[in-house]
Amino acid sequence: MEVVVVPTKKDGSELVGGAIAELLTRNPEAVLGLATGSTPLGVYDDLVRRHNDDGLSFAQAKGFALDEYLGLPAGHPESYRAVIQREIADRVDFAAGSVHGPDGWAADIAAACTDYEEAIDAAGGIDLQILGVGTDGHIGFNEPISSLASLTRIKTLTEQTREDNARFFDDDLAQVPTHVLTQGVGTILRARHLVLLAWGENKAEAIQATVEGPVTSMVPSTALQLHPHATVVVDEAAASLLGDREHYKWTYANKPAWQGV
Ligand code: GLP
Repeated sequence: MEVVVVPTKKDGSELVGGAIAELLTRNPEAVLGLATGSTPLGVYDDLVRRHNDDGLSFAQAKGFALDEYLGLPAGHPESYRAVIQREIADRVDFAAGSVHGPDGWAADIAAACTDYEEAIDAAGGIDLQILGVGTDGHIGFNEPISSLASLTRIKTLTEQTREDNARFFDDDLAQVPTHVLTQGVGTILRARHLVLLAWGENKAEAIQATVEGPVTSMVPSTALQLHPHATVVVDEAAASLLGDREHYKWTYANKPAWQGV
């Protein structure tokens, strides 16, 4: 695992935007794993800027969202399908139909989950997966005690996650769905490069556990420790509880230039 401590969210977003731009330049057909939540929004802004100013193209790329709510009306502005369209897909030049998400409106939910796994496989797997992290260490919507080998499936949200996400639903807990579809931890671990981002003090405990805690399904983000290429990009506040913070900073500042992130 590599831990990159950046001064600000903007620095981190530009760093990750740069890594994605480099991937797309090397492989225009790259498959991107897209995350929702507030954390990756700066990365999407950075990619849009690179698209507008530098001609970075997504025309041959594909995107796969991590997760989706169940029970929202189709087209609901807070459905993750709508969020991904609004925040990134519609702002760059992805080809029509090249950005996918789990189908939270399917009549057969179990089949929709299997289909999603198959679609990711058929695309050749995800090259770079962007991840945020919940305050309880969830990735995608894999809440504590999610199997670390899990694939796309239905999950029940914890009260904590529903409260955290109520801000997207008029601060009204009753409007926040109770069930979701999410790529599993095992699905996420199949991506070739995992890039987990976290900003702010309220993510500091989750980041400390992710990086320095024992691997446990109680904190699903600790599964990153099992991945051969995982990068954790955090601002100073999110890094504040890391015991070896200074070592991670020194390591990053002194790594060979050819390594990239
Ligand atoms: C949601 C999403 C996660 C996201 C998490 C953190 O629960 N399903 O993918 O990482 O929230 O959200 P935020 O980035 O807004 O803190």
